[in-house]
Amino acid sequence: MTTKLVLASNNAGKLREFGQLLATVGFDVHAQREFNVPEAEEPHPTFVENALAKARHASRLTGLPALADDSGVCVNALGGAPGVHSARYAGEPKSDERNNRKLIEDLAAHADKSAYYYCVLVFVRHADDPQPLIAEGRWNGEIIAEPRGDGGFGYDPYFLLPALDKTVAELGADEKNRLSHRGQALRALVEKLQ
Ligand code: IMP
Repeated sequence: MTTKLVLASNNAGKLREFGQLLATVGFDVHAQREFNVPEAEEPHPTFVENALAKARHASRLTGLPALADDSGVCVNALGGAPGVHSARYAGEPKSDERNNRKLIEDLAAHADKSAYYYCVLVFVRHADDPQPLIAEGRWNGEIIAEPRGDGGFGYDPYFLLPALDKTVAELGADEKNRLSHRGQALRALVEKLQ
């Protein structure tokens, strides 16, 4: 028996990635667009609050269990910025190119270039679920000033994995899924669902 689940995102990559793994624990994953769910506000200062708001919103409007994620890059020398503001670090309209330029500028005067990608996933059985399932993933690296690689998205060309001497943009999609903050969080969630 499969249970229908709404994903509080319309990102095709996430739908495929999450859908494949969640199918193994009996979930049939659908994008919120299929139910005409508009994007929820993400006004909160923490990743988990934003993910919870998105999951509750999608569940309330569909009557289905819902899964939401929230993620970003956190730079230690910048006190965790861009953090929850990663998508719009350089303001509106959102632009990866301007975000990366601002990040390199902000970090130029700091010797510590360490950073991590963070992802939280929140699963609610229904909109008012008092015990959401929460899973996290964290991926450590360093921000470099010159881009390398053309895979991935967002901050990937500037996010170096020192142990591999590759940026995330130099990894294949499968390798990224195996190592990434999102992959880690997803596998942790699947364990909890089992
Ligand atoms: P979202 O939570 O997937 O919407 O991601 C928020 C923002 O964090 C994205 O727009 C990117 O700027 C950044 N981000 C999250 N995950 C990644 C990643 O795997 N690679 C590069 N940037 C990421």
